[in-house]
Amino acid sequence: GIIILDFGSQYNQLIGRRIREFGVYTEILPFQTSIEEIISHNPQGIILSGGPSSVNAKEAHLIDEKIFRLGIPILGICYGMQLTTKLLGGNVSKGIKGEYGKSELKVIKQNVLIQGIPEKSTIWMSHFDEVTTMPPGFELIAKSTHSIACIANDKNKIYAVQFHPEVSHTEYGTEILKNFVFDICKCHKNWKLTDFIHSEIKKIKEKVGDKKVILGLSGGVDSSVAAVLIHKAIGEQLTCIFVDTGLLRKDEGDQVMKIYGEHFKMNIKRVNAQNRFFSKLKGISNPEKKRKIIGNEFIHVFDEESHKIKGVDFLAQGTIYPDIIESQSVKGPSAVIKSHHNVGGLPENMKFQLLEPLRELFKDEVRKVGMELGIPKELVYRHPFPGPGLGIRVLGEVDQDKVKILQEADAIFIQELYKNNLYDKVNQAFVVLLPVKSVGVMGDERTYEYTAVVRSANTLDFMTATWSKLPYEFLEIVSNRIINEVKGINRVAYDISSKPPATIEWE
Ligand code: XMP
Repeated sequence: GIIILDFGSQYNQLIGRRIREFGVYTEILPFQTSIEEIISHNPQGIILSGGPSSVNAKEAHLIDEKIFRLGIPILGICYGMQLTTKLLGGNVSKGIKGEYGKSELKVIKQNVLIQGIPEKSTIWMSHFDEVTTMPPGFELIAKSTHSIACIANDKNKIYAVQFHPEVSHTEYGTEILKNFVFDICKCHKNWKLTDFIHSEIKKIKEKVGDKKVILGLSGGVDSSVAAVLIHKAIGEQLTCIFVDTGLLRKDEGDQVMKIYGEHFKMNIKRVNAQNRFFSKLKGISNPEKKRKIIGNEFIHVFDEESHKIKGVDFLAQGTIYPDIIESQSVKGPSAVIKSHHNVGGLPENMKFQLLEPLRELFKDEVRKVGMELGIPKELVYRHPFPGPGLGIRVLGEVDQDKVKILQEADAIFIQELYKNNLYDKVNQAFVVLLPVKSVGVMGDERTYEYTAVVRSANTLDFMTATWSKLPYEFLEIVSNRIINEVKGINRVAYDISSKPPATIEWE
């Protein structure tokens, strides 16, 4: 497989995901990993990732330059290119103004890394520093509008690109990664999901034996797939705890019980903790505070419930690969834009052994496993839902009445998306409720009610997103239905902001 050394770029998980999609095994390791450990993984290729720092900085993230002499093909991406250049004797300096966003790639000389891509194509860049002198033994194979974009040393199989081939905005990024993985590293497609399911069920049985396992089921894809997989392995020995925070979507709690309790016949303890959450949130309107309160309260409730079940040895979690990378990654200065409190996160002082059967998988793979296991498609392919739930979609102070209003409006929007075959054409759609009232007229009466905002985003990775160009006729139906059917809303707006500079959620 391929090893990705992580220098902290927000795009690193994507590199891994792309390569897994090719059917090739990949692992992301911190850049500090020793050469010996890297060799022990037996990689067929190594990728040096992007990262927020400068190779010329005093505390630059460096690696042992021996890595270039192992005879293992190497691809440097962005910071990885600058690092390769610096360590092998070239020069990197501050560019005049950097290049951010779209640029054009122009092929200068044919090379295996860029075979099959046209002479000119679109690339995505995000860099300030740039390579000014290539290291000896390298040739320039492509340029961007303002800088050296792609260099190669075929003899030693060392390659580097200044742009990001892993992001979807780079038109031929997938081809470039494929050229590296298959033609340069000679990897084979041998990573299959059905093998994964069988071997994981066997591993769970061996690890758990006749012990008991608990799992926090949120209704989201990850915890649900983990639960069904573990249940397949050990049946009744698994108990799921489902905390109803009161901040879920309309009827979501009942649906979870129906599918996982009745259909899959799993042991589920539903905890109706709505009042606890609402009373903790009373008077709080700061988004970060709300997130923290919701995250902490979840841990409290879960902890209490878990103590009520006797003789439990294992805590199972739907941790997936990106969660692990996120927590071990080198954080750049701008890393925390919002604190992502994964409701369902690990209560810290619990004395259980961990069971995390999905920890090697990326999201798409988790979905495929879910389908394989027979979880209904609407649940497996449901849009993501943030841990703090409607707590961050009722803007400002949250109370039960506002949540109820939002649930109704949101349900109408989602229902119409399904009905008009649009649900799968957008990647995340929801309604937010503003704490703003405006004047309207209904029949002969003046109204003074809340404003709802319909939000829909198209994105591949949730790092960047554009607003969905939903048809006017469709938006009209949604607006009419929400205003007519939901008491408490008399005005609907459509969010036309992209990310960045906006975010997908409003808080
Ligand atoms: P933003 O709003 O930052 O969201 O553009 C990007 C994606 O992350 C989701 N999100 C969260 N997920 N806990 C989560 O599990 C959180 O606290 C959280 N905040 C945002 C958001 O729904 C979108 O898919």
